[in-house]
Amino acid sequence: MLCCGRALDSPCTLAMLVGFQFAFVLYFSLGGFRGLVSVLVHSADPEFDYSRPHDVYTNLSHLGALVPHQMGPVIPTGAGAAGAAPQLKDCPVPSPLLVGPVAVRLMSAPSLEEIKDKNPLVTSGGHYTPPDCKPRHHTAIVVPYRNRQSHLRALLYHLHPFLQRQQIHYSIYIVHQSGNSTFNRAKLLNVGVREALKDEDWSCIFLHDVDLLPENDHNTYTCNPQHPTHLSVAMDKFRYRLPYPQYFGGVSAVTPNQYLKMNGFPNQYWGWGGEDDDIAARIRLSGMKIVRPPVAIGHYKMIKHKGDQGNEQNPRRFDLLKRTRINWRSDGLNSLKYSLLSKVLEPLYTNLSVNIGDDPHPLKNGTPPRKQTPYLVHHPDRTKDRARQVAPTQPAKTVNHQWKTTNETSGQGEKAGMKQEVG
Ligand SMILES: *[C@@H]1O[C@H](CO)[C@@H](O)[C@H](O)[C@H]1NC(C)=O
Ligand SMILES: *[C@@H]1O[C@H](CO)[C@@H](O)[C@H](O)[C@H]1NC(C)=O
Ligand SMILES: *[C@@H]1O[C@H](CO)[C@@H](O)[C@H](O)[C@H]1NC(C)=O
Ligand SMILES: *[C@@H]1O[C@H](CO)[C@@H](O)[C@H](O)[C@H]1NC(C)=O
Repeated sequence: MLCCGRALDSPCTLAMLVGFQFAFVLYFSLGGFRGLVSVLVHSADPEFDYSRPHDVYTNLSHLGALVPHQMGPVIPTGAGAAGAAPQLKDCPVPSPLLVGPVAVRLMSAPSLEEIKDKNPLVTSGGHYTPPDCKPRHHTAIVVPYRNRQSHLRALLYHLHPFLQRQQIHYSIYIVHQSGNSTFNRAKLLNVGVREALKDEDWSCIFLHDVDLLPENDHNTYTCNPQHPTHLSVAMDKFRYRLPYPQYFGGVSAVTPNQYLKMNGFPNQYWGWGGEDDDIAARIRLSGMKIVRPPVAIGHYKMIKHKGDQGNEQNPRRFDLLKRTRINWRSDGLNSLKYSLLSKVLEPLYTNLSVNIGDDPHPLKNGTPPRKQTPYLVHHPDRTKDRARQVAPTQPAKTVNHQWKTTNETSGQGEKAGMKQEVG
């Protein structure tokens, strides 16, 4: 009692109480926590003028000029950058070559030959390491792919200069799904991660759709050490807004550790949709969260195209999503089975051609069955899909669609040198 009284009498304590009171008044006058955050964050949020973008090849000539003539053949492909040039200084943060908004060329991408000429420092396999500084980041870009030549050229034309300006060490991997079975984006991503990590000790792995082009080079292709990153937060297709809070599609990134922690990605999503929501759920279930760059930075343009043949909407995606909580530990990296048919180091990318097996529920002639089901909308807009997710449920069948590897061959599966991978 006495002690308390004494303490209250002290001028120091009184000053503190008044101080707290003042802080509370300020806090609520700003509209509580949200207001406070918006005040604090607003000043830090960058602003960019997207109406006057730079050419995506701006400043690249600086890189070329910095390279001594004998440098070309000296850079060893595939070798770790750190070992190759020990006396270089660390690359500065941020890179002095960044320009902010860059123009996106959606139509009529140049030929591969022209793109190669414009990127003389990119070496075999689509590999690059800064010639004049020691990179702080080592990023593998993994692109699930099938029959999108013109999109691929647009991506390579855009991404190579974009990444070189960021002064990171990177390679671009295309994971080509061989055969005619339904497209399986998440499984191809699993394969890409596995194969890329055989090449180098990448610190960061990007999961990149072939038809998305970043519009701001401050959106660095690097990883957050704690949490998976979602980068395509503002796509033109969604009017430069996040379509829904858990959205993880388009372009995202994980470290190898994060990837292990969530047991990779699901292997069971054949066809369009759902797999990115499954990945987002795995992130939550394995105790991580999604981090994102500011909306002002995470701008992307999508190359417009009709739905692909062989990538029809997956009518089973909502059934699968309901079981992520049960399935994520058993379906993923630890159950991944595929065979690598070929690995070709092209000048601008590494082509991993893989047999990932067949869709156990193929759609006849690409026509989605059960057209009357309410969530089969014609317009492939996921925001609408989400709204319909609560639609009448099908009786949940307990199925475990594990692909049996041993005797599957699809397309060029019997090629010589075919390797069998077992999870
Ligand atoms: C990069 O380009 C911008 C825009 O043209 C220019 O302002 C900047 O100085 C260049 N950076 C370097 C390091 O040359
Ligand atoms: C990748 O390799 C496969 C198998 O050789 C080939 O069919 C495909 O066209 C290649 N894709 C690209 C983009 O080079
Ligand atoms: C697997 O395929 C080989 C060659 O096609 C065949 O000889 C063998 O009997 C098959 N094995 C099984 C278990 O079906
Ligand atoms: C895949 O489809 C193409 C075109 O329809 C056809 O020519 C080819 O034989 C098919 N390949 C397989 C393995 O079914």
